[in-house]
Amino acid sequence: MNTNGHPPGKILIHAAQIQHRVDAMGWDITHDFLGQELVVLCVLKGALFMTTDLLRHIHMDVKLDFIRASSYGDGQESSGEVKILIEPETDLRGKAVLAVEDIIDTGLSINAVVAYIQARGAASVKVAALLDKPARRKFPFHADYLGFPIEPKFVVGYGLDDADRWRNLPDVWALD
Ligand code: IMP
Ligand code: MG
Repeated sequence: MNTNGHPPGKILIHAAQIQHRVDAMGWDITHDFLGQELVVLCVLKGALFMTTDLLRHIHMDVKLDFIRASSYGDGQESSGEVKILIEPETDLRGKAVLAVEDIIDTGLSINAVVAYIQARGAASVKVAALLDKPARRKFPFHADYLGFPIEPKFVVGYGLDDADRWRNLPDVWALD
């Protein structure tokens, strides 16, 4: 029983659909990176659920590390400036890096994360994103692996939050 109720809105993507898609993404990634030294960088906090599920479907040995970029604070709109708040400990020089992100919205955050990884000397940077809102893009960006393109609605669950709430819902909800 969930005594916290649910957010004001509707389920947009069910947990089973997410599992099915993430499973397929894992196989694609395995196929593309087999034989390489891959570092998977989970972009905290939103991509935590996606990363742990994805890793279970990447069928090769990988290194796991974390990066955190400044978020929206308590709002639903980006402040326009991104800071790297938690840096990965892993030496990224010469490595193939796969950043796992929860959602690409304006494209600002992921561009900053990719630039940071490149500046750390990675040999290649690819991005796996669970969700994408292409209609909201302000900074060009195209994910290498994408779960679901969605309408420009604010969503929560499966790691995604609204002011740090609703991350632990198993489904993705679109807020009213
Ligand atoms: P961008 O920099 O505008 O692309 O925003 C990307 C970041 O904003 C994501 O990593 C999320 O943390 C957050 N974000 C964007 N859209 C949503 C949403 O619909 N729900 C929850 N977080 C979101
Ligand atoms: Mg995020």
